[in-house]
Amino acid sequence: MTPARTRIVRAPRGAERTAKSWGAEAAKRMLMNNLDPEVAEHPEDLVVYGGTGKAARSWEAFDAIVRTLDELEPDETLLVQSGKPVGVFRTHEWAPRVLIANSNLVGDWATWPEFRRLEQLGLTMYGQMTAGSWIYIGTQGILQGTYETFAAVARSLDPSTGSGTGEGSGTGKGTGTGKGTGTGKGTGTGKGTGTGKDTGSGKGTGSGSLAGTLTLTGGAGGMGGAQPLAVTLNEGAVLVVDVDESRLARRVEHGYLDEYTQNLDDAVARVMAAKDAGEPLSVGVVGNAADVFPELLRRQHAGEVAVDIVTDQTSAHDPLAYLPSEIAFADWKAEAARDPEGFTVKARASMARHVGAMVGFQDAGAAVFDYGNSIRREAELGGCERAFAFPGFVPAYIRPLFAEGRGPFRWVALSGDPEDIAKTDRAVAELFPDDAPLRRWLEKAGQTVHFEGLPARICWLGYKERHLAGLKFNEMVASGELAGPIVIGRDHLDSGSVASPYRETEAMADGSDAIADWPLLNALLNTASGAAWVSIHHGGGVGIGRSIHAGQVTVADGTALAAEKLERVLTNDPGTGVMRHVDAGYERAAEVARERGLNVPMMTPRP
Ligand SMILES: NC(=O)c1ccc[n+]([C@@H]2O[C@H](COP(=O)([O-])OP(=O)(O)OC[C@H]3O[C@@H](n4cnc5c(N)ncnc54)[C@H](O)[C@@H]3O)[C@@H](O)[C@H]2O)c1
Repeated sequence: MTPARTRIVRAPRGAERTAKSWGAEAAKRMLMNNLDPEVAEHPEDLVVYGGTGKAARSWEAFDAIVRTLDELEPDETLLVQSGKPVGVFRTHEWAPRVLIANSNLVGDWATWPEFRRLEQLGLTMYGQMTAGSWIYIGTQGILQGTYETFAAVARSLDPSTGSGTGEGSGTGKGTGTGKGTGTGKGTGTGKGTGTGKDTGSGKGTGSGSLAGTLTLTGGAGGMGGAQPLAVTLNEGAVLVVDVDESRLARRVEHGYLDEYTQNLDDAVARVMAAKDAGEPLSVGVVGNAADVFPELLRRQHAGEVAVDIVTDQTSAHDPLAYLPSEIAFADWKAEAARDPEGFTVKARASMARHVGAMVGFQDAGAAVFDYGNSIRREAELGGCERAFAFPGFVPAYIRPLFAEGRGPFRWVALSGDPEDIAKTDRAVAELFPDDAPLRRWLEKAGQTVHFEGLPARICWLGYKERHLAGLKFNEMVASGELAGPIVIGRDHLDSGSVASPYRETEAMADGSDAIADWPLLNALLNTASGAAWVSIHHGGGVGIGRSIHAGQVTVADGTALAAEKLERVLTNDPGTGVMRHVDAGYERAAEVARERGLNVPMMTPRP
């Protein structure tokens, strides 16, 4: 076995491939790219991001996947079971080259202790969302979504912009949906009672910007590390708390964070000065959020600090990846391994204090939202009775986008040439000349985003938009304008690909939050439509037992066949998001279906 710590993986670059098809070559390069030290948070353990989200079960499994992909015929399909290659089957050239199932467990067994028992036996792996499905692109992958969320927060704080955020009616819909009822294992506590846009306190500058506001958040890891840059791109000041100094240092190095300090007083003085001056500034502070958030709430009450927005992206979805305040940073891994159950109790108690302070900030007039890490549920299990007093970010800010099939469309230049991304950025801006926010985003991203691993870009596009970009990229590859093929994928966090009652499907209009047929249909349809690889995962984002979700990746290699596949996959995939929201009763989704010609058999009136 190769000693893990000496292993450095980096994807090959360029237009020459060693695999027999670009589908297999792309899957291989993206697996390797996920483990590139520039990209992965802990590559030595095969951990890409999101607590323990891994790209392959073991280094032996990694080597076997790479070898198999190089040998795979263009009419064969490799099956990967939780990070391990388990079979190669004869299919056909329209079929995916890889089908992936990660972390799936039967309902009654879907708990962290059971998952860990099976993981210890070497039988499964935590795939998070894009770690085990080989389409993570570093912190940029969440940056635009985070930027858009904070832009929506800015608008909600500033009634003068009048553009409205969130779904409005959705904020009250979750009341009484009672998670877990009927499953025999939930506690049945109501959720979704938050009021997203009602929490605005009228701060802001009259321009929908965050200038003059202060955001407090936790977690500067692979995904959470996007928060400081997303706030400063919206012109605000932000304080981010992380227990791990190395994470803060990495975000400074990659340009996602302006500075960090060990000293809370200094950090507060810096961000308050920036807030008062209306200047953007991000400051990290080394500390435990379970201690720092309550301390800052005390200072807020004392008038020593004025926090306007509060959220969090520590790895709360996995209690072993959240450091309890009474355990020293140096003892974290050993304590979690020694007594996982005891550690979980401590982590949840800390999260209860952490979330209790977030509720206190909301009571004091701040806009507070859960940022997709299930911290409210963990805090509730730790004894915080009002944990669900504030909303999740999807019902508060994102659902209107999902109703249009809008979601995180990302692409990667297999050439390794940053110029390919610059060219595709311009092409996307030209394709959608009327979409001013998109053009603004592409411009800002081009100026500020530091590439991690293979050059990549993300932007949010909707139904009957994404395939236009895919086809354009394919033409650019075919004409030789780009130096190599383009991989096109997305997060599992998308409009039609996930069931996650604490996040993407929180407070659905028809109460269908926990119905997981939708992501499975999404994966089946993408498989039937010509995707290069398709994945079905459990537990990403919010933890084991709390989500089921699917991913797809396509490849623009410049061929006519690729164009046909791209057109179908990139139309059908976001189409399932519109379909899902039509079915749940969202009028905007029905309008989009009618306007853009999506056939939903029981929709009234039909298109
Ligand atoms: N909102 C979204 O769209 C979205 C997307 C992806 C992931 N997530 C979720 O966000 C969370 C973070 O993801 P990530 O990829 O950044 O994870 P990560 O594991 O890379 O980083 C988590 C960070 O939290 C820090 N941390 C842990 N306990 C802490 C404590 N008590 N106080 C302060 N800091 C603490 C860790 O040191 C680490 O830097 C996960 O729960 C993930 O599932 C949300």
